[in-house]
Amino acid sequence: MDSAPRNPVTAVIVVAAGSGQRLGYGMPKAKVPLGGDTILTHALRGVAAAGIAQQICVAIPPGDQELLALCDDFAQALKAEHPGTPGTGGAGQPPIVTIVDGGATRAESVRAALAALLPATEAVLVHDAARALTPEAVFHRVSHALAAGALAVIPAIPVVDTVKTVEPTTGDGAAIAPELVTGTAARETLRAVQTPQGFDLATLRRAHEAAASFDDGQAAAVTDDAMLVELLGVPVHAVRGASQSLKITTPLDLIIAEGLLEGPLGVRWVEG
Ligand code: C5P
Repeated sequence: MDSAPRNPVTAVIVVAAGSGQRLGYGMPKAKVPLGGDTILTHALRGVAAAGIAQQICVAIPPGDQELLALCDDFAQALKAEHPGTPGTGGAGQPPIVTIVDGGATRAESVRAALAALLPATEAVLVHDAARALTPEAVFHRVSHALAAGALAVIPAIPVVDTVKTVEPTTGDGAAIAPELVTGTAARETLRAVQTPQGFDLATLRRAHEAAASFDDGQAAAVTDDAMLVELLGVPVHAVRGASQSLKITTPLDLIIAEGLLEGPLGVRWVEG
């Protein structure tokens, strides 16, 4: 008898509906040029190259015709490359590409995409378009952990900096420095968390249903999907991420991403 784990029917949600204000380009981050294409094009290519999804569901800023056209072009290119039936999941079959309007927060964008997944979907990976250069190996590590039975799995890398907690300085100290150190975290237990984050679909839907009733303060504190699953008490597993999965957030990140693309081997072959 074959005891190899079966790959669940998988969708990848790509959230690309952010404003990109911190990048300072005056346009949604997904459209910002990177290596002659856009950040979103690189992200979508990486997802497709990983070959793990029957569906790719992209959340874009509502009404953004340029990004809509970009996603349509990407879907057409996938069909031309793989002339099979989209979404059936067989070898060489292209994923179905679905486009949804994102929401005011990242979590709302994820919820909009969750509502648009194909009925047969069993597992979902949620990926930030801003992590446009994530290597295929990271998608594979996450999806293997799901196939092996994890309900939630995140890619993570060790933290190189010493991390401290602080609070605003009050009283006489305020004249010396704006913040006071309140503690030092044990670095060997810390991880910097990336995407794609993978979930059993029913578990992630349950986590987001619970979060839909959060007040503004609680909603603002939600920075990833795994956090919501942790609140349900479901174990979250961590696999190795990669340093080139950096989230392109500031102008310096964009310089690093351009540098990675120009590297001698090309970014997809450099493992971090
Ligand atoms: O803002 P932040 O850098 O945390 O965004 C992470 C990812 O979430 C980005 O890819 C961004 O496009 C996406 N996002 C979204 N909808 C929002 C806010 C962010 O899809 N309302």
